[in-house]
This record gives sequence, C-alpha cells and structure tokens, in this order.
Amino acid sequence: MTAPALPKTYRVKSFGCQMNVYDGERMAELLDQQGIARAAEGEDADLVVLNTCHIRERATEKVFSDIGRLKREDGSSPLIAVAGCVAQAEGAEILRRAPAVSLVVGPQVYHRLPQMIAAAASGARPVDTDMPLETKFGSLPARRKVGPSAFLTVQEGCDKFCTYCVVPYTRGAEISRSFADLVAEAERLVDAGAKEITLLGQNVNAWRVADGRGLERLIEALALIPGLARIRYTTSHPNDMTEGLIEAHRDVAKLMPFLHLPVQSGSDRVLKAMNRSHSAASYLAVLDRVRTARPDIALSSDFIVGFPGETEAEFAATVRLIEQVGYAQCFSFKYSPRPGTPAATMEGQIAAQVMDERLQRLQAAINTAQLAFNQTSVGQNCTVLVERKGKYPGQWLGKTPWLQSAHFGGEPAIGDLVEVELLEAMGNSLAARLIEPAPV
Ligand code: 5AD
Ligand code: SF4
Repeated sequence: MTAPALPKTYRVKSFGCQMNVYDGERMAELLDQQGIARAAEGEDADLVVLNTCHIRERATEKVFSDIGRLKREDGSSPLIAVAGCVAQAEGAEILRRAPAVSLVVGPQVYHRLPQMIAAAASGARPVDTDMPLETKFGSLPARRKVGPSAFLTVQEGCDKFCTYCVVPYTRGAEISRSFADLVAEAERLVDAGAKEITLLGQNVNAWRVADGRGLERLIEALALIPGLARIRYTTSHPNDMTEGLIEAHRDVAKLMPFLHLPVQSGSDRVLKAMNRSHSAASYLAVLDRVRTARPDIALSSDFIVGFPGETEAEFAATVRLIEQVGYAQCFSFKYSPRPGTPAATMEGQIAAQVMDERLQRLQAAINTAQLAFNQTSVGQNCTVLVERKGKYPGQWLGKTPWLQSAHFGGEPAIGDLVEVELLEAMGNSLAARLIEPAPV
C-alpha cells in the first residue's frame, strides 16, 4: 500500500455527547492552524476525523459502518483518523478490524494530531491512547469564530463508576481545568461571538479547584464578562449538587433556569445495583431544594430501561417518578452491556423485546410530561437567543431560558437576544411571536 500524501483538506465528524462536539471543534481549529482547510460541504476531504462515542453498542458499530462508507468510487480512501471514546477503548484493535484506518487518537491526546498525521502520511499507522498528567488544553490554539451558543469543557472524566458506564475507563479520572484558563477561554469565546456558554463535564458539578472553589464560583466569575448573556452547565451528578451551586440558581441572573440532573431509575434496588450512591428519595429532595431556590427551573434527566434484573414493578417506579417530577425534557436509553463494566456480566440480562416495550412506555410518559411543561409556558414572554434559520422561509430558531426550541418570524439576526411571546406548545418546540430585540 502506498503511503497517503499530507492532507490538504479535512472533515471532522463528531458523534455522541456535547463534549465530543467541543473536542471536534478544537481538533478542527488545530487542523486549521496546520494549514489544512475544512473541506467544502459535499466535497471529499483528504483527511476524515471520526470523533467517536462508546457509550452504547449502536454508537460503536456505527463507527465501523462509517469507515466502510468513506471508501471512494475509485477504491481509494481518505486518510482516516479514529478519535474519541471508541479510539480510547479499542486502540490498536481498530487498525486490525479496519485496514483503511490510518491513525487512532484518544480523547486526552488529540493535541498530538499534527505529528500523528505526518507519521500516517509517511506510512506509519500510529496509535496514541495515553492519558498524560498534563492536559491537552494548554497545547491547543486559541478559539477564533464560534456560534452564539458555545461549549466550554471545564471538567473531564468520572470517578463514580456506575456499573453500566464506560466513561470512567474511556475518559479517565475526574480532572478540573484551572479557574484562570477557563475565564480566559470564556472571554475569548465571547470575543469570538458567543452570547451563551454551556460549561461541559461528564460530572460538571464536580468541578473544583485546589483551594476548594466549586462550580458556582466559576459561574459567578463568568457572569461578570460583559457581552455574555447566558450560562448553562451539563451534565451533573445528584451527589455533587452543593448548596452553593443551588444558591447560584437563585442569585446569578445569567445562569439559565435549567438543570440536567440524571437519575437513571426510580427504583432504589436498581439504583444500588447501578452504584449510583443516591436513592429516588434523596434525588427528589435535591430537586426540591433546587425548586425552592429557583421556582421556574426546567428539569431534565437521563433514564436507562432494562438494567439487568429490572422487574416490571421497578420499571413502573421509574414511570411514576417521571410523572411526579414533571420534567421539561429527558433522554432515555435501552441498557447496553459495555465490555469491561460490572453490569455487563450481571445475572438477569433483560430480553430485547422487553426493553423495547419498556422504552416505548417510558417515552410516552416523557412526551406527556414534556408537552405539559411546554403548555405551562404558553402566554409568557421570554428572551430567546437566535441561533439559526428555521426550515421554512422567514422562520428563525432559538432557545428559551428553559432550553425549549422556539420558532418565530421577523427579521432578527443570528446571535440577537430577542423578546418573544410564546403562543403555542408542541411536543418538542413552541411557536412564538417576536416582540422586540431585548437588551443584552
Ligand atoms: N447503556 C445504556 N445507557 C447508558 N448510558 C450510559 N451508559 C449506558 C449503557 N451502558 C446513558 C446514561 C447516561 C447517558 C449519558 O447515557 O443514562 O446518563
Ligand atoms: Fe457514567 Fe455514572 Fe460517571 Fe455519569 S456518573 S459518566 S453515568 S459512571
């Protein structure tokens, strides 16, 4: 096989969570800095980075079918880099299974991509899945141009070891980026066009620096940045929901009234088997404290159906919890055994058709809750950050403070913070009417 030439154009495809979206953007900036150009829409790229997700089986299988689809009509392939969590978990195994892959780079070392691309172009097939102590962030180029709503990774990794989850293995131990670095990156994001910043971490509310400052201190500092209108954070763990962070929802006007706080199940036996270290009641108690601090808060969660041993009664407890909380939105998944995790070898694995049926019932409960939540918003005025054009001519899309999608007419510009009246609720969005541009 002849070695591919140095690439002139690239495309980055990110799968999975928002942290992968963030990493994908940072890899693209790194490639830009190397003089490699982003391939135009619809055109072949010389280098394709697949920034992969390993959280559930289907996500992993997708990587291999995507690699197959990159083959061109003349039989050649672009230089293919597999990055992200599948790269971390499978490493050199990917090279064996997929001969078209040129390099494999884990999520903690993608700042080494330029050297790896050069090595791949001269015929090597480098694999780097190190988890070095120094972080990649210091070696990445500064942010340049971003959309009105930008992500900022503040924390990575997880020490919780829920028994179903690969994250502690693929992303490593919890690390928090430094306060000064984060404030500087947030300022650059705002200079580059961001009006809203979502702080990201696998356990974002576990962000903590050596002197004990927690996430609320970072949020307060970012709220002082002129031009930054909105702050969000995701994903949080119930046990790291400190009083200080809850109070920030009351005290910091720029912190949006939305909290994604996964509970996974409504059954205490299942929660224990999942090693979640909270009960349904202690989770609900956290939500009560948050609602006291910020009565209009919109709540969101992740759920897994069909965890090994889950009985019909335990599943029913999850549905009841959804009905009780009144979520604004939720994500729900069928349990997927991940190699190397404790739950994968537990007794009582649930049959596929039972999982399918439970997922449908769970999603029906979620849809009912979501529509009810959207209906409570009808008739209210609120701000919306204009993010993009809608499907129909003259239509604009943006998010309300409660993270609902709103669509409306008028002539705003992307990045404007506008005032709208919410007119009609659908399951996944709200129709709205533009009132006027709101002051930032
Ligand atoms: N199977 C199904 N869902 C999973 N999640 C994590 N691991 C698994 C798994 N093995 C879900 C959890 C988590 C979300 C990001 O993905 O609900 O909160
Ligand atoms: Fe996975 Fe649990 Fe850590 Fe979330 S808290 S990343 S579900 S191990």
